[in-house]
Amino acid sequence: MAGTKLRLGVNIDHVATIRNARGGLHPDPVRAAEIVAAVGGDGITAHLREDRRHIRDEDLARIQAATNLPLNLEMAATDEMVEIALRHRPHAACIVPERREERTTEGGLDAAGQHNRLAPIVARLADAGIRVSLFIAPEARQIEAAMQLGAPVVELHTGEYAHACQEPGGGEAVAVELKRIADMAALAAKNGIEPHAGHGLTYDNVQPIAAIPQLAELNIGHYLIGEAIFTGLDAAVRRMRELMDEAR
Ligand code: PXP
Repeated sequence: MAGTKLRLGVNIDHVATIRNARGGLHPDPVRAAEIVAAVGGDGITAHLREDRRHIRDEDLARIQAATNLPLNLEMAATDEMVEIALRHRPHAACIVPERREERTTEGGLDAAGQHNRLAPIVARLADAGIRVSLFIAPEARQIEAAMQLGAPVVELHTGEYAHACQEPGGGEAVAVELKRIADMAALAAKNGIEPHAGHGLTYDNVQPIAAIPQLAELNIGHYLIGEAIFTGLDAAVRRMRELMDEAR
């Protein structure tokens, strides 16, 4: 299918997870960012969690200084994170829900239910020139909420799709999830919001998502860092890029 190029944002959090397991400096997420830049990745994504379990405050400036790639800072909607974002001024800030006990970002942000809390945060970030993205479930009411909040970007949570892909005989559920994501990407685009997608994407499940023509960017982390153990990060990013390009 012919279409516009789909950007690949590489989430380097789990390089920091491995570093933190020993408390030292190795492996350095900055080196990962440099490799992503060298092999043609389009952006670096990093999630500064409240508990700093992977990326830490001091990593942000180092990552920004190391490459010219745009930094997409994933952050919870808290005063602390807004202050940090305003200090570092990343290219984009993706607001995610965060629960301390979760292993990863398990669900989408309830943009519809939290309008009053999110509105001043979106406005402050936007006023600082930061491109605000909301990480939401692929649901029409969440897209409508993003419109009301004036967010220029939504990132559609592909976790349910990825989960369905892993279930034996999950074909029907995969088709349902894929349709939801495609429909919501179209709805967002129709309303002037740039749709992105991410979470749980792998070599095996990325192509049907990459084929959705309205999607402008995918953010992929855990699988790529896992593959990097076996093949190197450069080869893993190149392979993902090839699969994405093939699907367009
Ligand atoms: N996008 C967002 C908003 C996320 O929170 C995450 C996980 O941190 C990702 C993308 C990447 O997900 P994964 O690590 O499963 O590829």
